[in-house]
Amino acid sequence: MVKNDRGGFGSKFGMMMTVAGSAVGLGNIWRFPFLAGENGGAAFIIIYLSLVLVIGIPLVLSEFSIGTAAKAGAILSYKKLAPKTKWHYNGYLTEVTGYLLLGFYCVVAGWTLRFFYESVAVGFDGQSATQIKESFEGFTSTWWQSTLAGLIFVAMCAYVVIRGIEKGIEKWNKFLMPLLFASLIFLCINSMTLDGWEKGMEFMFSPDWSEVTGQTIIDALGQVFFTLSLGMGVMITYSSYSKGDDNMVKSKVTVSVIDTSVAILSGIAIFPAVFSIEGLQPTQGPELVFLTLPSVFANLSYGWIVAILFFFMLSIAALTSAISIMEMLVTLFIERYGITRRRATFIIVAIMAVLTLLCALSSEIFNLFDMLTANYLMPIGALLIALFVGFAMDKKLRYNTFTSNGKYSRWIYPIFLFIVRYVAPLAIVIIILNGVGLI
Ligand code: TRP
Repeated sequence: MVKNDRGGFGSKFGMMMTVAGSAVGLGNIWRFPFLAGENGGAAFIIIYLSLVLVIGIPLVLSEFSIGTAAKAGAILSYKKLAPKTKWHYNGYLTEVTGYLLLGFYCVVAGWTLRFFYESVAVGFDGQSATQIKESFEGFTSTWWQSTLAGLIFVAMCAYVVIRGIEKGIEKWNKFLMPLLFASLIFLCINSMTLDGWEKGMEFMFSPDWSEVTGQTIIDALGQVFFTLSLGMGVMITYSSYSKGDDNMVKSKVTVSVIDTSVAILSGIAIFPAVFSIEGLQPTQGPELVFLTLPSVFANLSYGWIVAILFFFMLSIAALTSAISIMEMLVTLFIERYGITRRRATFIIVAIMAVLTLLCALSSEIFNLFDMLTANYLMPIGALLIALFVGFAMDKKLRYNTFTSNGKYSRWIYPIFLFIVRYVAPLAIVIIILNGVGLI
């Protein structure tokens, strides 16, 4: 494949860690374990895994086909692959999604940084559940504190993105992702020693098919999209920086396995700890991470170490995901105005500063961004990407990209095409209709 002056990934391992870094995010740690626990345990996990395999991976491959074939960002790619059509509007859509998602992601990531700081500087020992709650609510409702934390986070992302793909993003992901895995494994081993081990395992894994309804499947599908960072052009952007011909199917299956393992291991790290403390019940979302778990850490022996590792891991997860969104936006600006990466990064930081401020100031805006991206923009983006690859992209180019010029995975190509054309669009339409409340 052509080498060009946009730069690119230096190694396969680095690229894999970077793509996994985008996928492994807050969604794996605070959303997946609880969804599984509440929706039939192992039964949910089996459904989820099947959906990752049947729908998630083909969609990741679709985004990769676009970026690998066009070697450009999320808008220019369409202009190159389908000139004189309106397909590039899909790129504008994913751009908007990127701003909105990054806006509230930065605020939550700012909270994560603040908790990491607190776990190192003060610790949660001796704090009651009420004190933890009051301190968290005091923090989130003081707009300048949330904004400041969010801006520090934006600055950290920019520090990495401004250095480019190989020397910034790849280098940091190669370093941070293994640290995330190591922290997670340590937390899981610690979980085994806790009183709540059995109860926690039972909560997350005991299969209960009676809990599985149509809604469960839709929720699982929504999680598959979110966790694989689909429908936002991020995978288009990263794949446009790949060099050499990779065995695409194999490397994307590996990334999905990493992503799913982190989600499952997070449950193993979290629930036994929650059940070790009398009277505590698992929760989800911000409440789990910022209220329930700090109470758990306050009561666990050596809880301070566990707290530090946990918030460290969460900060890395948020950072590597946010970096991928920022890179998608920076690439767009470089290509749109022909400016340097440095200048593009500064512009994006300025835009993000405003959006972070808005999300920190108003919980309505925060919730609106969250709802718009998760229920509408990401699924619509993914739908259009699937349709583009399925019907509009040049047949030969699509085949050659998917199989690395006929080298790998030829047998699976017809299945891929069938899914991308029919199965995935149908599944996405169901999610959208469900999000709107029509089914
Ligand atoms: N995958 C991330 C997570 O699990 C969230 C996410 C969704 C994302 N879409 C994205 C991250 C696009 C980066 C880019 O938390």
